[in-house]
Amino acid sequence: MGYNVAIDGPAGAGKSTIAKLVAKEKGYIYVDTGAMYRALAIHFLKKGIAPEDTAGVVGACRDADVSIRYENGVQQVYLNGENVTGMLRTEEVGNMASRTSAIPEVREKLLELQRTLARENDVIMDGRDIGTNILPNADVKIYLTASVETRAKRRYDELKEKGEECDLDTIAQDIKDRDERDMNRETAPLKKAEDAVLVDSSYMTIPEVVSEICSHCK
Ligand code: C5P
Repeated sequence: MGYNVAIDGPAGAGKSTIAKLVAKEKGYIYVDTGAMYRALAIHFLKKGIAPEDTAGVVGACRDADVSIRYENGVQQVYLNGENVTGMLRTEEVGNMASRTSAIPEVREKLLELQRTLARENDVIMDGRDIGTNILPNADVKIYLTASVETRAKRRYDELKEKGEECDLDTIAQDIKDRDERDMNRETAPLKKAEDAVLVDSSYMTIPEVVSEICSHCK
């Protein structure tokens, strides 16, 4: 049995940035579960299935195989044998993932993979339902959040940095829509586990958040 740290929270709270740093400091493997939903989203996009076509999505799950490998400690995601890691972080893929992750069969598809990784390794696993559903007995549970304004501003700065055209209000609206979908879906909605430590990073620096989380971990 591995040592398991679950870190959940809404889109843009900085989970992956923080989890990677905690993983490095503590010697855990960082498992990004959002990347798995994104890989399935690529499969649906490739097949031209609309996110509202639930039957189509469920059918397409049958011929999708998502697996994970680590190269120099960095998670690589494979979809039917192809490394899709470089294709995961686009708006199109994120939107498809946000919509299709509400479908129970999509979640079911990734459950064993996530639990197996946590059983076999010391992990910090980030997602939406890790502390509530995937690893209810995790050694440490963190709920990492920040205000919509803070999350939108961080995303805006990140896109500007990459030289991409973007608009703060559109980004804020997109974040609100994703929160709404993640928190109100029927299957495994995003919520703070009762025994999770709440960390609001709105007014915290990255090193402050990392040190707060590390203080709860072995
Ligand atoms: O975290 P990330 O933005 O990469 O996740 C993509 C989408 O996958 C999210 O919008 C969310 O709806 C979904 N997701 C989920 N459960 C997880 C991880 C991600 O539903 N454990």
